[in-house]
Amino acid sequence: MPGKTFYIETFGCQMNAHDSEKVVGTLLAEGYTQVATPEEAHLVLYNTCSIRDKAEQKVFSRLQQFKREAGKGKLFGVLGCVAQQEGEKIFERAPHVTLVAGSASYTKLPQLLVQLEAGNRRVTGLSLDTDETFDTPFTRRDNPHRAYITIIEGCDKSCAYCVVPFTRGPERSRTGESVMAEARRLAEQGYTEIQLLGQNVNSYRDPSAAGWDFATLLARVAEIPGIRRVRYTTSHPRDFVRAIVEAMDANPVLCDHVHLPVQSGSSRVLAAMDRLYTRDQYLERIELLKTARRRYSITTDIIVGFPGETEEDFERTLDLLDKVQYDSLFSFKYSPRPNTAALSMPDRVPEEEKQRRLAILQEKQRAIQIRRNAELIGEVREVLVEGRNVPLGQWIGRTSDNRTLNFTHSETEGLVGRYLDVRVTRSGPNSLVGEAVV
Ligand code: 5AD
Ligand code: SF4
Repeated sequence: MPGKTFYIETFGCQMNAHDSEKVVGTLLAEGYTQVATPEEAHLVLYNTCSIRDKAEQKVFSRLQQFKREAGKGKLFGVLGCVAQQEGEKIFERAPHVTLVAGSASYTKLPQLLVQLEAGNRRVTGLSLDTDETFDTPFTRRDNPHRAYITIIEGCDKSCAYCVVPFTRGPERSRTGESVMAEARRLAEQGYTEIQLLGQNVNSYRDPSAAGWDFATLLARVAEIPGIRRVRYTTSHPRDFVRAIVEAMDANPVLCDHVHLPVQSGSSRVLAAMDRLYTRDQYLERIELLKTARRRYSITTDIIVGFPGETEEDFERTLDLLDKVQYDSLFSFKYSPRPNTAALSMPDRVPEEEKQRRLAILQEKQRAIQIRRNAELIGEVREVLVEGRNVPLGQWIGRTSDNRTLNFTHSETEGLVGRYLDVRVTRSGPNSLVGEAVV
């Protein structure tokens, strides 16, 4: 058995992906070597997601798959949201697991690893009682051009369906100074795109005397020399204020895209979800974007089949799609989660009905996207080149408004990481095709 090697697999959101980058950096600094398969590794880590039941089940099926390997001295760790949610119960359910740690405990990872190496077979890091953020100088980033920066961890909202406040703890903002220092360092290293991360970035508040709000932080990060694009996720509509749109309007480095999860188009359902805004208040936020100086693409998340959602409520959601004309949306069937208020709500919507609503919603959105994307034919957009699709002979690009724009170019290598102008020639529901403007 090779010593001090690890494998990590990540599930869930960008926060989790970035947490894994920090965990990898920390492990490397502790003398571990990363390997590409669980078979080769001494320590196998799963950074898990528990947003919906399906996501949670994935980790238990992975653990089941490698159960027999545990006898050969392999160590298994469960990190992230399932770890926080299930805690020590994981040791009962999967006895070969030796480490269970939630994201609020990663600063203690080096100590937890020492305990593991010392032979402790039930190591835990589960305290949520922290005002710390997980800043590490060792972060090992996966993408050489786009870098994530966490600005706020945790969530203080209490949406009735959501495990996140429970799995990631209360909100903790980083100081503006530490965010800026990291962003400057990244720019010096050659990163050109920065994505600011948090469960609710809009409620960012610099804890130092400077006291920056989110709009101020956005403006400052966008001024850093060498940074060409700044994105952020996720916004909560209640805290999405005019000053944010004004900051975006003022500097095109702040990308032409806002993800503004609505969850439902019915004020009645929004109240039951405890979302803290009505349909009309949400539409006022959308209006801020539609009347802005630049044209922003708007995307959203929608849950169908929340307890008590009637056909009429669902039709309000469909009607909202007509009104807003989203550029893209992520839609989900409501999944009951432990420790959440909605778990005990009456009038569960049957699975088949959720499925039916989901299909109708997705079909409607598909038609909207086909139409919206077709409107872009003939336009020229700047893309950041992300990769190459060799079989298609195309480069893969991303526009400021977060569309995938694949394109042809006379060069067959060396374009990744560059910014190029591309003319859109064809469109589909989920992407655009074009040719480089030379
Ligand atoms: N069931 C279904 N979807 C959910 N989401 C969050 N919790 C649940 C749940 N219990 C969705 C929301 C959120 C996105 C990240 O996941 O739409 O915005
Ligand atoms: Fe999944 Fe939410 Fe945790 Fe991200 S924060 S990993 S989406 S449960």
